[in-house]
Amino acid sequence: TPPGDFAQRLLHWRDRHGRTDLPWQRDRTPYRVWVSEIMLQQTQVAVVIPYFERFMARFPGLIELAEADLEGVLAHWSGLGYYARARNLHRAAREIRDQHGGCFPTDLAAVQALPGIGRSTAGAILSLACGQRHPILDGNVKRVLTRHFGIEGWPGKSDVLARLWGLAEGCTPAERVGDYNQGMMDLGATICTRHRPACQDCPVGKSCLARAQGRQSELPAPKPP
Ligand code: ADE
Repeated sequence: TPPGDFAQRLLHWRDRHGRTDLPWQRDRTPYRVWVSEIMLQQTQVAVVIPYFERFMARFPGLIELAEADLEGVLAHWSGLGYYARARNLHRAAREIRDQHGGCFPTDLAAVQALPGIGRSTAGAILSLACGQRHPILDGNVKRVLTRHFGIEGWPGKSDVLARLWGLAEGCTPAERVGDYNQGMMDLGATICTRHRPACQDCPVGKSCLARAQGRQSELPAPKPP
């Protein structure tokens, strides 16, 4: 499968089936996309929505978040769990205020250097909010690529991870990168699920190696004992 065709089919699927009405999809500033990505890391969309709305009402921008005290930030996180996420958000907001003049950085390395932001989240923020061409590789995207390209080995292993980043980069289109990345996350969340993937509805199913070999349940390989 040429990577271009992969991206085109994914984008077409997203145009027909993707959600475009989520609160962080309107007024897509790096700040709003950042907060939503951190909330969505371990929490489902339906749970995140009201937390995101309350968080934005109280901390509408980076400066308000940086000037707030940690207790107030944690109070707005109460119920979401994984409180390290909120602590990192607060620390990062202060770093951006003090080291980037209060403007969210638009350079991948600078974004990745912020507390709580890894390579995939940095790519997500800059692609979704700024249209920059960066691949993403969260758990959902790892599953899609591992199955589609038949990648063996546990994705936590460094050589396997390096191959996945290479595929993620190679599949990423030159245009509409934000829509493409959002589509990949949505595909992993709704079609290419861990259990019983809906392959008959998958826009890239015809070129999926795991599907052709009936190995969806074996890929991605689990962590070795
Ligand atoms: N999980 C992490 N980021 C996400 C996003 N942008 N949409 C849906 N699920 C996600």
